[in-house]
Amino acid sequence: MIEPLSAPEPQITVLDAGGQYCHLISRKVRDLGVYCEVRPSETPAALLRGRRGVILSGGPASVYEEGSPQIDRALLSLGTPVLGICYGQQLMAHLLGGRVERGQEGEFGLAELEVDAPDLLFAGLPPRQQVWMSHRDTVSVLPPGFQRLAHTNSCAVAAMAHAGNHLYGVQFHPEVAHTRYGTQILSNFLFRICGCRQDWNPAGRAAMLEEGIRETAGERKVFFFVSGGVDSTVAFTLCLRALGPGRVRGVYVDTGLMREGETEFVRGIFQPHSGAFAVLDAQERFLGALEGVYDPEQKRQIIGDEFVRIQQEALDAYHVLDEEWILGQGTIYPDTIESGGTEKAAVIKTHHNRVPAIQRLIEENRVLEPIRLLYKDEVRAVGRELGLPSELLDRHPFPGPGLAVRCLCSREAAPLGRSAEGWVLPVRSVGVQGDSRSYASVLCLEARPSSTGSLHRQATALINQLAGINRIVALVDSRAPLEQMSGTRGSLDRVRLDRLRRADAVVRRLSCESGYERSVWQFPVILIPVGAAGAPDSIVLRPVDSVDGMTAESAAMPPELLRQIAGELLALPGVCAVFYDLTHKPPATIEWE
Ligand code: XMP
Repeated sequence: MIEPLSAPEPQITVLDAGGQYCHLISRKVRDLGVYCEVRPSETPAALLRGRRGVILSGGPASVYEEGSPQIDRALLSLGTPVLGICYGQQLMAHLLGGRVERGQEGEFGLAELEVDAPDLLFAGLPPRQQVWMSHRDTVSVLPPGFQRLAHTNSCAVAAMAHAGNHLYGVQFHPEVAHTRYGTQILSNFLFRICGCRQDWNPAGRAAMLEEGIRETAGERKVFFFVSGGVDSTVAFTLCLRALGPGRVRGVYVDTGLMREGETEFVRGIFQPHSGAFAVLDAQERFLGALEGVYDPEQKRQIIGDEFVRIQQEALDAYHVLDEEWILGQGTIYPDTIESGGTEKAAVIKTHHNRVPAIQRLIEENRVLEPIRLLYKDEVRAVGRELGLPSELLDRHPFPGPGLAVRCLCSREAAPLGRSAEGWVLPVRSVGVQGDSRSYASVLCLEARPSSTGSLHRQATALINQLAGINRIVALVDSRAPLEQMSGTRGSLDRVRLDRLRRADAVVRRLSCESGYERSVWQFPVILIPVGAAGAPDSIVLRPVDSVDGMTAESAAMPPELLRQIAGELLALPGVCAVFYDLTHKPPATIEWE
């Protein structure tokens, strides 16, 4: 792990109870100019003496479950201010004699918070505000001496405090961008409650990261597989600067799973470093290995394994298998945490750079991940510091395993299901609910998206009520009515990948031309095996707004653009319908898998 060499003594410690958001809290604190560290939740209180404050993160467990993350109880009587977030609030209530119960229904997504008593935590903030919730359990009885600070419609204790003992809890997530005043709430905790001073400058990270690279690499050289995405390009460029072009090699593997025109774009970017960069054509190998594969996790595993084999071969071919070389990677923080990379986070999906063979390299200390603690927006900031062009830095993120994660497969044909709310599509997609993975069905609403605002509201309300559904879409247009469509058989073959690649290129072209591409954070285009005779697949449009990919809102689309995109997509061979994904993250993930 590359940490700054001259980091100050942390004023704040975030105790990690396994939440998706743990490092996001730490980063928000640093962004507020306060140096902060992350430690396991069980860290003894004695080691935390001298901190100005402690934050207990959220996590996937329930406090009443056997083996759920604990904290050293003494921490709550040190006199040091403590803020419990989500699971952290529940744990605090549980340990101090309050009661935590499983809620009747979960609360995932946006909610309106009503402040009952501002105390210091909500000082200067409006009495009603939008917050982001992701939980099932709630505090039902306050611990003695605590006061309720806020509630929402479905959460009686959305914030609580024992001001005399400097203990605070919130059920919502102040660290995510969708909590409107989240930064101010954290700032109130740091500066009004803990009395922190500013001692950390979030700018000027490149030099610090380069120093870390030199320290980790020592005398060794770094071999990189670059994808042309922001992450690997920034990591590769940092290494070039830290070690000089003579000690760094980059290889781009053309997997055949790339978007249209991608390989040419990447060649263009690395033209200036042509001595340190090469393209390896592995299309046949990846497509061969993926033939007849249906399961999303198996896809990732195969792609990851093939990558590792190619890495091995490339290292051989470049005669770099000896000890003087290490492997560089552009892994960023969300990749680590969503693969269960921290001690307690539940596995949501396996990322290609966390398959076992890479794990072994990590254990041998032969992997260098210079940006592994950074989030996407921080990586872009470092890229700007490095002088990389905005055409590259402002590209939408694209998953390493390429179009494979956006090409859904099905082993068998199945009919659409009818439900009171609409049609249940016979495909399943990955979601994240209360910090755990879900793999559930997709509901298609009856209504068509003319005004998308009301559809988004309808979808958000429905998703919390329907069991077995983690995603809601609307039908934009189709060649056949829904009642004539069914789930079809489809694997990860060339025909379907080409179909998806062409659809993706259409969407990209139209959304670039209209300026829409710049207004959203990411715009996945997904192929699903649902269709009718002669047109076995459909396309899902998934434009999202996000800051870092950890949470996301389904983005509104201009009706004219939606109509135009659907028109061109339905003219493509094999495409039966166009759907529009209305689901936020959580409960759905951004990708469908
Ligand atoms: P999800 O689907 O988990 O996606 O909400 C969050 C962000 O991560 C991207 N993603 C990946 N990026 N390798 C990557 O480099 C991967 O294997 C991978 N899988 C998902 C996804 O596109 C989104 O931006």
